[in-house]
Amino acid sequence: MSLPAVILVGGQGTRLRPLTDRIRKDMLPLVDRPLLAFTFEHLRRHGVRRGIISCGYLPTQIQEHFGSSYGDLELSYRVEDEPLGTAGGIAFAAGEMSETFFALNGDSLRDADLGAIVDFHRKTGAKATILLTPVADPSRYGLVRLSPDGRVSTFLEKPRPEEIDTDLINAGLYVLEPEVLELVPTGRAVSIERDVFPRLADEGSVYGIALDGYWLDVGTPESFLQAHRDVLERSFATEIGDALGADFTLVDPSSKVHPSARLVPPVFVGPGAVVENGARVGSLAVVGAGSRLGPGSLVENAVVGARVRIGDGSSVVGSVVGDDAEIGEGCEVRSLAVVGPGVKLGRGNTLDHGLRIGADQTIPNDALRFS
Ligand code: GDD
Ligand code: MG
Repeated sequence: MSLPAVILVGGQGTRLRPLTDRIRKDMLPLVDRPLLAFTFEHLRRHGVRRGIISCGYLPTQIQEHFGSSYGDLELSYRVEDEPLGTAGGIAFAAGEMSETFFALNGDSLRDADLGAIVDFHRKTGAKATILLTPVADPSRYGLVRLSPDGRVSTFLEKPRPEEIDTDLINAGLYVLEPEVLELVPTGRAVSIERDVFPRLADEGSVYGIALDGYWLDVGTPESFLQAHRDVLERSFATEIGDALGADFTLVDPSSKVHPSARLVPPVFVGPGAVVENGARVGSLAVVGAGSRLGPGSLVENAVVGARVRIGDGSSVVGSVVGDDAEIGEGCEVRSLAVVGPGVKLGRGNTLDHGLRIGADQTIPNDALRFS
């Protein structure tokens, strides 16, 4: 099986600010490579050889990084003049597509068996088949009600609390017949979730299937940390997870870890990073390329970007620190705090309770305290 795939990359990622102040959401690094690389990896593993990237706005960062291929997955780009919405974006990118194809959201992680969804799609003769996944709270997603034969009876994007009567939601991956594209008017924004799927549900030609396998929508600092945890713990198959090996530890050979420092797996230390005496990294920690962790510092259940400086005795726990940030001595960054890229945090500060510091801000010494 080798269906082409249209990958949607239009959204803004506002819930991940300030991490997305400089890097678009789909290009945020997950362990050592952009989020989008995991989507490409998944498609490749299931035999997809052609990816068309549907871009709501300029894909410069994506194009510069990936260029025209990712291994044996050939990549091309279609850029909208104005964002056309999810259905508009798919139709514009698919162009004159004449075969069955995948369309998917580029901002989630999954490892579903794509062959199984195509088999189901062929068996039912559906015009469209939606991959489904159960979640605890469907309100931020597209809720999908199924008939016993797998037909979608209702597709309800962002349901109100009183409308929630199933835990199954749209996992953001579809198998589509080209005739679906005929339902998408040109020249204005059209949503597949709000406009197209409800129509197909009315006519009984869209099916849904919940397959086993990992799924995560990476939209908040919390889910960003969760994604790191799941890759490091190999909750789903990834190349980098495999590279961590049996001891769940990957320390780049060009990094320098002081003999008295402790690395507690799972842990990833990137190229050129320096971990000074008495520091502890892990468990569940990612230290980006060229970052320096000062003596006695602690990074646990946390993500530290590239070229970050962490001062003596400071700790980063359950939090995210963006690229090029400098954290002074004796700071505590904890409980889902997010330090934006390029921030200069003076010594003796405590960040807690999901506090976010915007990109490039300077915080004086001893300015922030939480009791
Ligand atoms: N090309 C293009 N043009 N892409 C777009 C546009 C656009 O105008 N608008 C959004 N996208 C892309 C986003 O980048 C993302 O990859 C995908 O389309 C979905 O849009 P989001 O804005 O991220 O939607 P959402 O997260 O609120 O909900 C979607 O994903 C959920 C699963 O994560 C919906 O598909 C829900 O039904 C689904 O449950
Ligand atoms: Mg999304």
